Amino acid sequence: MPGPFLELSDIRKEYPGVVALDHVGLSVSPGEVIALIGENGAGKSTLMRVLGGVVEPSGGVIKVDGTERTSLTVADAIKAGIAFVHQELNLFDNLDVAGNVYIGREPVYGGPLKLIDRKQMYAWMRPLLERLGADFEPDASLAELSLAQRQLVEIMKALSLDARLVIMDEPTSSLTLTETDRLMRVIAGLKAEGVSIIFITHRLNEVMQCADRAVVLRDGRMVGALSRAELSPGAMIKLMIGRDLKSLYVPPAAPPGDGVLDIVEAVTDTYPDRAVSLTVRRGEILGLAGLVGSGRTELARAIFGVDSLRGGAIKLNGVPIQVATPRAAIEHGIYLVPEDRKSSGLLLDGSIAENISLPDLASYLRFFLVDRARETKNAHHQRERLKIRTPDVTTTVGSLSGGNQQKVVLAKWLSMRPKVLIFDEPTRGIDVGAKQEIYDMLRGLADAGVAILMISSDMEEVIGVSDRIAVMHEGAISGFLDRSQFSEHNVLELAVGHT
Ligand SMILES: Nc1ncnc2c1ncn2[C@@H]1O[C@H](COP(=O)(O)OP(=O)(O)OP(=O)(O)O)[C@@H](O)[C@H]1O
Ligand SMILES: [Mg+2]
Repeated sequence: MPGPFLELSDIRKEYPGVVALDHVGLSVSPGEVIALIGENGAGKSTLMRVLGGVVEPSGGVIKVDGTERTSLTVADAIKAGIAFVHQELNLFDNLDVAGNVYIGREPVYGGPLKLIDRKQMYAWMRPLLERLGADFEPDASLAELSLAQRQLVEIMKALSLDARLVIMDEPTSSLTLTETDRLMRVIAGLKAEGVSIIFITHRLNEVMQCADRAVVLRDGRMVGALSRAELSPGAMIKLMIGRDLKSLYVPPAAPPGDGVLDIVEAVTDTYPDRAVSLTVRRGEILGLAGLVGSGRTELARAIFGVDSLRGGAIKLNGVPIQVATPRAAIEHGIYLVPEDRKSSGLLLDGSIAENISLPDLASYLRFFLVDRARETKNAHHQRERLKIRTPDVTTTVGSLSGGNQQKVVLAKWLSMRPKVLIFDEPTRGIDVGAKQEIYDMLRGLADAGVAILMISSDMEEVIGVSDRIAVMHEGAISGFLDRSQFSEHNVLELAVGHT
């Protein structure tokens, strides 16, 4: 492999009260695929933002093609061929695909009129679309595209700028299995063309699949790098969290009890001619698997009263209940932890403590004032329990790393006393160590008698954590699996509709 064209050395970044990066070094050679891994808050995104010119380091040297600098601007980064595919994509819904790729660089005609030459733009797009095997047209409106397709548009934009290094921050966290496979192929294709890739992920199987090297950050420091030959999930976990992990599955303390939540022939708006029936028992974790779009989230939203049911019934401990609003659901002791943390009601400007007490604020009121002492005490307790990494519970949620924000969402609902807990992708964006803590917590809640329904697209998670799995396909249950029948193959067969 040719020598590195990019070298970071001694990079430091300090935020008030936090050293996000502490003397980190990294070099990138052409055609190299580097996985950047580490626990939530380890500094991964910060390091990539330094490379993308978005964050100015407090110290250190960035050497590009032999020239040394102390920081990069976004323009420097682009000029150096560094492209950043953001975790929150940076695209415009009201433009088409080509318009997004060539934004600000559109070909024009008509002299001083400067009319945009769409034909030319679409012609430029052809090779890009082919290179990535995209299944959409250059004039497709962005609003029509799936998240995975939008991501490809961002990558095309990078390639059209002659990127030599494409940085992706958790690119697969919201993709389906097939979309993830396609992205893995895109990465392999770019590598073959000599483009380098750095990608951040919490999914170790992806690292195994496509990385030449894994670089591990812990608490802002680089704690090690593993070459392709040294890569194994065990080795990565050990470097990431400094210890071995026990197996995911913890059996229930007692066999599951009677049905707590009965869904009887429920019909949602998305699949008006399909009905779903299932029972979640006391003390059980029922995994709800299926491809994205199979109707799992719609079902969860209907149970929680966000959407209404078109037909069927919901029973709690055998008694039919009406759940017209989330408030009604909460009064019955049913909670939903939604998949999208932005819509899950986090106040990004609020402190951790304020966010945690929010859903149950009434119980913190004393003479119409919030009992801050009790609020803080509970927040400290939850922070310990979930290992939320922050200097203090007064820190604003917006400045936490992605995974730590997710933990605040969980803490918020766990402070309540639920009968039924529904989790929609509970550990998306959460590191392996913290995942284990969340799984232990789910088991603890189940053992305390809560009925848990866990929607998850993470195969390892569904198989590793559930006591029983229900699989959905196109709005209906295609089958139930007991632990003795658990396998990736069986889940996938049912998910694609083979019963
Ligand atoms: N703008 C900011 N202001 C204050 N602190 C910040 C800011 N950005 C990041 N931090 C802190 O720097 C540390 C590193 O955060 P970073 O986002 O790089 O973590 P990460 O490794 O990407 O984590 P995750 O896996 O959760 O995305 C964290 O402690 C975070 O709270
Ligand atoms: Mg991050």
